[in-house]
Parts: sequence; structure tokens; C-alpha cells
Amino acid sequence: MPHSTKFLPSFLVFLLFFFFISFSYAKSHTFSKTISPSTLGLNRHKLSHLHFYFHDVIGGRNQTAVRVAASPATSTSPTGFGSVVIMDDPLTEQPEWGSKEVGRAQGIYASASQTELGFLMVLNFAFTQGRYNGSSLSIVGRNTVASAVREMPVVGGSGVFRFAHGYAHAKTYAIVEFEAVVEYNVYVFHY
Ligand SMILES: *[C@@H]1O[C@H](CO)[C@@H](O)[C@H](O)[C@H]1NC(C)=O
Ligand SMILES: *[C@@H]1O[C@H](CO)[C@@H](O)[C@H](O)[C@H]1NC(C)=O
Repeated sequence: MPHSTKFLPSFLVFLLFFFFISFSYAKSHTFSKTISPSTLGLNRHKLSHLHFYFHDVIGGRNQTAVRVAASPATSTSPTGFGSVVIMDDPLTEQPEWGSKEVGRAQGIYASASQTELGFLMVLNFAFTQGRYNGSSLSIVGRNTVASAVREMPVVGGSGVFRFAHGYAHAKTYAIVEFEAVVEYNVYVFHY
């Protein structure tokens, strides 16, 4: 069969060539490549303003924030330096505790200043209403709670808030017994 003995080597060469090409193609494209924003449906950048009230309750029957760690010096520090608190705080439309809940503030605040009441805030606003249900915004910032207005960066988000960036303004609305009510105005760019 002279035909097939001649055919076989060239077929092998073709196969080798094909594997080489596809291998080098895969190698240069598996880790990273440039794509168009429209591939992810990212066409219109918009700015949203969210307004809600945050309820931080550190004791009593409806406690929402628990201290999980402290240093030996925390109890004698005027700023509670070193204490770490985990929160799952309701976010409501109106300042009243029983007002409609729009989400939760879930995360950590830690006393990180020795000279004033200043917390490191690391938290997610996890929204539960309407088109925001299931979407979240991530905050990392400094919260000097005695200041009239505190600004914290929005560093990202998920769901409708993918690619989010912006800032949150926090303003204490009321402090009653164990509960602090904080008014939040959040301005965020997203798609
Ligand atoms: C705890 O929450 C319940 C239900 O919302 C409310 O009726 C009650 O007044 C709250 N208790 C305190 C101490 O805030
Ligand atoms: C939010 O989404 C969850 C999970 O999909 C669903 O169970 C819940 O009913 C939704 N809530 C509202 C208010 O739409």
C-alpha cells in the first residue's frame, strides 16, 4: 500500500503541528486575556444613593453585636483599644427599630485608636429588598464615632453592585440604652 505509507508521516506531522498550535494558544490564554466590557453586559455606569438606618445593639434582649476579643489592656484603655466586635445589625428604611428592614450590616468593628474612639470597620451591607435582594456592598474604613459625620470607602460589591466603588457617610441619629441608631447615606458607582 504505497499510498498509505506516504500518507501516514505527513498526517503525523499535521497532528503534531495542530497540537503544538493549540497547546501554545491555550498556554497564552488560560490565565488572562482582554475582553470587552459588553461581554459582561457592563454598558452603563450609574451612580446610586442609598439611605437607611443602622441599628447596633450591644446588649439586652435584641443584641445584634457581640464582643469576641479584647487585649488585657482593653478594660483600662479610655478608648477600649483592642476590642473586636462582630455585628449582624439590621438596616431599616426609617429610624425606628421595627421599621422595614432593607438589609443587614454584617462584619467586624475593632477599636484601633489609643487616643480617640476610632474603629476599623470591615463589613458587608447585605441587601434583602427588591432588585437589591442578594446583592452586597463591602466597606473598609475608619469610624471615629464621636465625629458628626464619618466617611468610609465602599471598596466593592456583588450582584447589582459588581465593580462598585464609592463612599458611605455615617451620622449618629440616636443612642438609647444599648442601641445606637446611625443614619447612612451611601453613594456608589456601579453598572
Ligand atoms: C426587641 O425586639 C422586639 C421585636 O421587634 C420588640 O418588641 C422589643 O421591644 C425589643 N426589645 C428591646 C429591649 O428593644
Ligand atoms: C430575597 O431572595 C431570597 C433568596 O432568593 C428569597 O428567599 C427572598 O424571599 C427574597 N426576599 C425578597 C423580599 O424578595
